[in-house]
Amino acid sequence: MHIHIGLSEVTRETISELLGQLLTSEYALYLKTLNFHWNITGHSFISLHQLFEANYEWLKLIIDEIAERIRTMGYTAPGAYRTPDKSIVTAHNHTKNLTVGAMLAELVADHEALIRKIRQVIDDISGMHDYASEDCLIQWLKGHEKNTWMLRSHLLHTPEA
Ligand SMILES: [Fe+2]
Repeated sequence: MHIHIGLSEVTRETISELLGQLLTSEYALYLKTLNFHWNITGHSFISLHQLFEANYEWLKLIIDEIAERIRTMGYTAPGAYRTPDKSIVTAHNHTKNLTVGAMLAELVADHEALIRKIRQVIDDISGMHDYASEDCLIQWLKGHEKNTWMLRSHLLHTPEA
């Protein structure tokens, strides 16, 4: 059925592709954060275990929002592992025990990479009149910036960082 919402098929396809790239990276960060939630140790265990849980729950929420936005554009939401090479989140070595400081540093770097990616996507789609996607992207950007601040605040007080 034809989608007649004031956005051309080319525009909707372009936006869906960009959102699909974002979905892949958000999913990678979700899995990494979940794993760190399980494997965190040390004197700040409870606070970081809970912070990581809040982070992955938020990531799960926005992954769903991204996928549903792609569906709204009329395209198929990709499997999260569709293009792992496009993921901008650093690879996670599941067999390596990271220090608390290393976990926090990785998460900060990954959230920052996603902030830059989202900012770029907003720039890329500006002028396409897809105000709803821009609004969503700004909300996701704000969330990542807040998470980065919270993670970095722990990092400053972690000796092994
Ligand atoms: Fe848990």
